[in-house]
This record gives sequence, structure tokens and C-alpha cells, in this order.
Amino acid sequence: MPTIQTAETAARLRCIACGASPDSASQDFRCTACGDLLEFFFPGWTSGPAAFDPAALKALWFKRRTSREALDQSGVWRFRELLPHISEEHAITLREGNTPLYSLPRCARAADSENLHAKHQGMNPTASFKDTGMTFAASSAHQGKFKWVACASTGNTSASMAAYAARGNMHSLVLIPEGKISWGKLSQSLDYGALTCQLRTDFDGCVGILNQLVRQRPVYLLNSVNPYRIEGQKTAAVELMEQLSWEPPDHIIVPGGNLGNSSAIGKALLEMHELKLISRLPKVSIIQAQGANPFYRSVCELQGKKLEPMTADTLATAIQIGHPASWKKALRVLRATGGQVEQVTEIEIAVAKAEIGADGIGCEPASAVTLAGLKKLRRSGFVSRRESVVLILTGHVLKDPDFTIKFHRGDLFAESGAKNELADSKYVQRAPVVLDANLGAVIAALEAAERNPDERA
Ligand code: F0G
Repeated sequence: MPTIQTAETAARLRCIACGASPDSASQDFRCTACGDLLEFFFPGWTSGPAAFDPAALKALWFKRRTSREALDQSGVWRFRELLPHISEEHAITLREGNTPLYSLPRCARAADSENLHAKHQGMNPTASFKDTGMTFAASSAHQGKFKWVACASTGNTSASMAAYAARGNMHSLVLIPEGKISWGKLSQSLDYGALTCQLRTDFDGCVGILNQLVRQRPVYLLNSVNPYRIEGQKTAAVELMEQLSWEPPDHIIVPGGNLGNSSAIGKALLEMHELKLISRLPKVSIIQAQGANPFYRSVCELQGKKLEPMTADTLATAIQIGHPASWKKALRVLRATGGQVEQVTEIEIAVAKAEIGADGIGCEPASAVTLAGLKKLRRSGFVSRRESVVLILTGHVLKDPDFTIKFHRGDLFAESGAKNELADSKYVQRAPVVLDANLGAVIAALEAAERNPDERA
């Protein structure tokens, strides 16, 4: 097998707005010249002595799947040639990545789409896509000899950070909006040993306080403005292409909150295209909840010239974000790949979530915006019936059981006056049946269910 240069092939930092290329990042990962976000780029990839051979890279990554080495078993570190260099002694891994790609036959019928798959990033060690970025960024904190790491979070980032900090023997500080994240996520942070502060504000308020803190204390910021997070999260797209035998789908659909994930997936696709690992670019579309749609409004109403922050309000708590940090990176991805941005209602999210569940998979509410968005993109004609589509499911079905149970009992929108919209969706609602403890009652319930077959039959 041909030898492959490692990514010691100097990764460089660059500001996405003014192009300044600092040697190192400041504590808040903002450009010291203009205040915008930084990103990594890799000048030696396509020319010079360290240039990559795409076929050799694919073969190397495939071979690592049978390795017993911890780094090779990680679905992130397996692709380390595409990442900045972090030395192995600092790598903190929980064998993240390696997530399944599922077909979704029932959802495909619901969306009138003939070729539909989902890559389930909720099947990561702490049950969300955050682990792919966190393994890499937490390792960079370890390499930098930080004692404390910190994040603001709507739930998933905090659980992920707390786990990786614990594995790397670092202390972690979590800032979460009080009462606005799921109990499951809060409980994970506690078990993993984080100092967990529930602040009386929203996610955007938590971010503001954290940014001030990291400028005053030696605390390493692990939100997705940290470009190491984006690098780790890139690997989801690389793994997806490998799962598709390097044949890109026509569309990839991603939920949009703080917009780090869509930025990461888009960056990976552009880099893979440049490296000739793939021969064409899928269109990356980003879906927001209607009550938390600052990016949708920026693109559709302001031509992406600016983003007006808003107070976000959605039951999909993971994406209840009114001032997304990475909106300019996400805009670049939309433009470079030709994707679209859509918004979906609370009811569309809940119905889509139940439909993904009915395929035997399930996800958390924020992830279900992808299917709800696909339905709209099919109706508008942006996605045609035959085109291949991959939804990125970002979080696990067990994230928010309250949401799920209230939906199936019919309580979730009881006061919203949206009965008509829900009437069409009764077929996905399955309230639990409370019965006396006798066989006759159970048999009667079974017979009643058989008399009323649903589209499963
Ligand atoms: N889906 C889930 C399940 C999430 O947890 C998030 C973000 C998103 C989608 C949106 O991704 O921010 O990269 O656009 N959750 C964050 C958190 C912000 O704190 O866990 P994004």
C-alpha cells in the first residue's frame, strides 16, 4: 500500500471574514483583528510533498476498520489524515462515530421520496452527534494542558463535554438554561461529574456569560465556535461517503441550531471534493423550527446580508437558539452546495418524529425537523421523487420522553388550537392503554387494534 503523509501537514487557522491567519487562537476563538470565527485549512493537501492520493486514503481508512487500536476504532480518529494533528497521548476517545445508515421505508412513503436514508448520529456514546466534535476538541484541551473545560448548551453538548472531560481527567463547567433542557441530558452531566450551573436565562444568555468567563479565567471553551469541534464533526460526512461507497447522495438535510453541524458537514464535503475523494457535491439543506428561525429569516428576507437575533421558542429544545454563532459558515455551505433553508412548524416536527419512530428508529425532536423539512422541499419541487436523500438525525429518541408521551396522548398541542392540522396525523399517535389486570381486557384491546389496522398492516 502506498505510504500516506500524516496531517502533520500543517493545518493553519484562518478568519472566515478578514482572512487573517493567526498562529494560535485566543481564548474565545474569535479573530483578534475583526472578531469573526476561525476555521482550519490545510495548504499542503493538494500540492507539494504531502499531497494526498485519494485511493490510498480510502484503502487506509477501510483497513483500519479491522484494527484493535483505540484510535482506529473511533469513527472520528480513523479519518485523522483530514484533521489537524493532535498527538496520540492526548487523544480522548469513547469510540465515537461509526454510526449506522438506515433506510426509512415508511418515512419515504410519507415524504413521497423513493430513495431515503438516515445517518443516525444519536447512536454515539452520549447519544448525540456532539461526540464526534467533542472527542477532538476535548483532546486539544488536554494537549493544551487545561484543567477546566466549559460550554453553554441546550443539553447535548453539555452531556458530551462532561463525558469526554471525565475520560480525560479534566474538570468541566456546564452552563445551561434553567428549565429549558431535557432531564435526561441534565442527568448525564451530573453523572459524568460536571459542575452544572442552571442559569435563569436562555441558551444565548448562557453563551454570553461563558464568553466573558473564558476571557478572564484559564478555562477552555468547548462550544462549536471552537474550530476543533468543527473538524471532529466533519468526519460524520466522511464516514457517510464511505458507507455510500463514495457515491454522494443528491441531498443531505441537517437541522440548524447554532449552525456548527451544517458548517462541519459542508466543510467536509468541500474538502473531500477538493481531494477528489468524491466527484460531485450533494446539496446541503438546513432546516429550522419556525419559532427559532433566525437563519431562515436571514437567508429568505435579508439575502444573507446580516442575521437578526431573536428570542427563540420551540419544543425542540436542542435548537432553541436565537443567535447562531456559525451562521456565516453555514451560509457559505448553502451557497457552495446549492442547498436551501426551510422552516417547519411544531406540529410538523412532532408528526415527523413519530414517523421516524414508526420506522423502528426514532430520534429527538430537533432531529425530526429533517424529515419535516424534506416533505416541504418535496412539495416545493426542490427535491424530486427519484433523487437520493440522507437525513442527519442528530440525537437519540430517549432524549425527550415527555415530548413523546404528550404527543402520543394528544396533550402536546392541546391548548394550541391546531386540531385540524393534527387530525391528519392521528395515525401516528398511539396513546398507551390503561386496563384492568385481566387477560380478557388485553385480548379485547388486541382485537380492537386488529379491527382498526393502520398503514403498518
Ligand atoms: N440537533 C441536536 C440534537 C442538537 O443538540 C443540536 C444542537 C442541533 C441539532 C443543532 O446543531 O447547533 O450545530 O446547528 N445542540 C446544541 C447543544 C447547541 O448545546 O447541545 P447545530
